[in-house]
Amino acid sequence: MNQTTVTHNTDRHSPRHVAIIMDGNGRWAKAHGLDRTEGHVAGVETVHNITRQASDMGIKYLSLYTFSTENWNRPQKEVDALMHLVALVIEKETPGLIENNVKVSIFGDTERLPDITRQSLLRSMEQTSHCTGLTLSLALSYSARWELTNAMRNIAGKVAEGKILPGQITEQTIQENLSTSNLPDPDLLIRTGGDFRISNFMLWQIAYSEIYVTPTLWPDFTTNEFCAAIDNFRKRERRFGMTSEQVSQKNCQQQPNK
Ligand code: IPE
Ligand code: IPE
Ligand code: MG
Repeated sequence: MNQTTVTHNTDRHSPRHVAIIMDGNGRWAKAHGLDRTEGHVAGVETVHNITRQASDMGIKYLSLYTFSTENWNRPQKEVDALMHLVALVIEKETPGLIENNVKVSIFGDTERLPDITRQSLLRSMEQTSHCTGLTLSLALSYSARWELTNAMRNIAGKVAEGKILPGQITEQTIQENLSTSNLPDPDLLIRTGGDFRISNFMLWQIAYSEIYVTPTLWPDFTTNEFCAAIDNFRKRERRFGMTSEQVSQKNCQQQPNK
């Protein structure tokens, strides 16, 4: 049997990549006697604050589940409001993102987005392409099954063209064909709104992510709670199938002075 090279990051100290399922805007609006779209508007402030916090903390990647493939099935009025909101917010926030050295990226079936939304995102990506701090990735019209189906189609195409043999397909081949191929796997996955489910988000990439679920609704999610989630992450031992003793030994070898 081939020996597998373990490349996982067992360093407890800092999540390099935090992914968030931002859920609970609708319930927040309902609790405040408002229309669902008002909940999404309220959620924008949380996006602003958490992005700023992640950037200040030196986190390298923040990925936000903004709109899923399944969300296209919501009432048209809500879908339209969300698409306009994304366009509006990205226009408004881009100068501040540049100031904070934040690079914007998107993943998902962006062809399905209305022109105004796609154009404003493309502009923001272009304007922030030189930024070297936090990479803020927005998952839009995204679902993991859409992404995996696409990846399989691409790989099958390459096999059919004779560019690769089936036996040459590795985990890396699959990773390279995902819409998140520019991102490392999330270290920490946060879900607000209290539901213990993944809702078709990054199924391949979260194989070994630490999961943090909070009942807090997204518009109420504060930077303090974000920091608490990071602290909670730091206390966990990521074993990646190994024993606790092996992990400690590996960490000692990696950090001889600590
Ligand atoms: C998350 O909030 C935002 C999106 C899915 C776009 P919801 O709109 O799902 O809020 P709840 O779950 O109904 O409270
Ligand atoms: C997940 O939230 C999608 C986003 C946060 C964009 P949903 O509200 O769509 O998830 P379900 O329907 O409760 O699983
Ligand atoms: Mg929801």
